Amino acid sequence: MSHQEPTKQNDDLKYNMRDMVVDSTSVSWVDGINGRLFYRGINIAELAAHATFEETAWLLLTGKLPTKSRLDSFQWGLSNMSHSQEKVIRIIEEFPQYSNPLLVLQTCLASLACIDREDEYFEEENYIEKVMRIISQTPVILSAAYRHYLGVPLLEPRSDLPFIENFIYMLFGKIPTKNQTRCMEIALIIQMDHGFNPSTFTARTVASTLANFYSATSAAVGALSGSLHGGASVLTLEMLEKAKQSGNVSVFVQNLLQSGGKIMGMGHRVYKTVDPRAIIFKDLLTQLTAKEEKTSDLKILNQIEEEARKYFKEKMLPIYVNVDFWSGSVYKKLGIHPVLYSAIFAAARMVGWCSHILELRQNNRVYSPLSNYNGEINIPYIPIEQR
Ligand code: ACO
Repeated sequence: MSHQEPTKQNDDLKYNMRDMVVDSTSVSWVDGINGRLFYRGINIAELAAHATFEETAWLLLTGKLPTKSRLDSFQWGLSNMSHSQEKVIRIIEEFPQYSNPLLVLQTCLASLACIDREDEYFEEENYIEKVMRIISQTPVILSAAYRHYLGVPLLEPRSDLPFIENFIYMLFGKIPTKNQTRCMEIALIIQMDHGFNPSTFTARTVASTLANFYSATSAAVGALSGSLHGGASVLTLEMLEKAKQSGNVSVFVQNLLQSGGKIMGMGHRVYKTVDPRAIIFKDLLTQLTAKEEKTSDLKILNQIEEEARKYFKEKMLPIYVNVDFWSGSVYKKLGIHPVLYSAIFAAARMVGWCSHILELRQNNRVYSPLSNYNGEINIPYIPIEQR
């Protein structure tokens, strides 16, 4: 193919890598037909029911659930690596106050490639320590960036706290309740990995050149920051507010769909049934809003889903709720500011990105695809005075 003359006849090639397999992985598998997601072969529903953040992270990074002593040392290591780095904090404080914490994370990760000088000396047996540092620094940076965004003093991490408690403490300055901690933990567990989504593919592409771990994860955060990847949970909340204000949810949904609008939090490139993460987020919202009356987000979202499903069923479209349909309302109930929704996604997905980089390092081949050139060739150079 690389020796073919360019031809416009190739223009109908499938672009955007839709349905294209680009590499193999044993990190996670998305079963889009049956609505299942597996991390290293374990269904996420089981992990959400029984596992901790650290256990799931170890599973994804290494391929196996940890023994008790492994888990203890992994937890201890993550907590101890969560100290704030003076140079990074100085960088954060230089940003304008309105800076989005996710974009601050992208820059700080890239700067850590220069600050963390040990990087160049890291050998393969130290990779796990390297990724632990990145995973533990992520909430430290995000929390500092969030507090800078609010214009309130930054907080020192508490290395005596486990990962999730420490993250919530650094954001809000309060130790969370057990219930808040577990909700956040489940939210992070179910968003840790998801096959070859755009940010994971980006992390793998950059890592495949043997660029350092910080550059690969920083690039992945950049990919996540686009509105077609992260961000639909905030848009779902905006839609929910409009539906509430309309006074008639059913008419609101019909009008939106008939005018060519999209129901935010519905539809998925891979799932042709309900996204399994949406089921777990809905359970969380149900628990959090158990005592609320009929105006609750849960009830209105249920009505939106029901009405939209009727429409999609008639049109024979396999469009169902995705992870972002309920997640924003869960975060809202936990008192989390919308500017953090994508940031929380990144804190979770950092584990997945690092797992993919580790997997790739075991048998690395540079990602270097071909393109279909559809321009002209042999055009003569025209001197500037003749153009
Ligand atoms: N509401 C109404 N119509 C929809 C929706 C929706 N939520 N989703 C898809 N459709 C329609 C499209 O308009 C399209 O119709 P057309 O053929 O008449 O143009 C048809 O269904 C097929 O849709 P595609 O966009 O081709 O489906 P694709 O699989 O490429 O896109 C996507 C999936 C981008 C997620 C889409 O469903 C969407 O925009 N959903 C709303 C935004 C959203 O929830 N994003 C979060 C996704 S989950 C995540 O990224 C973590």
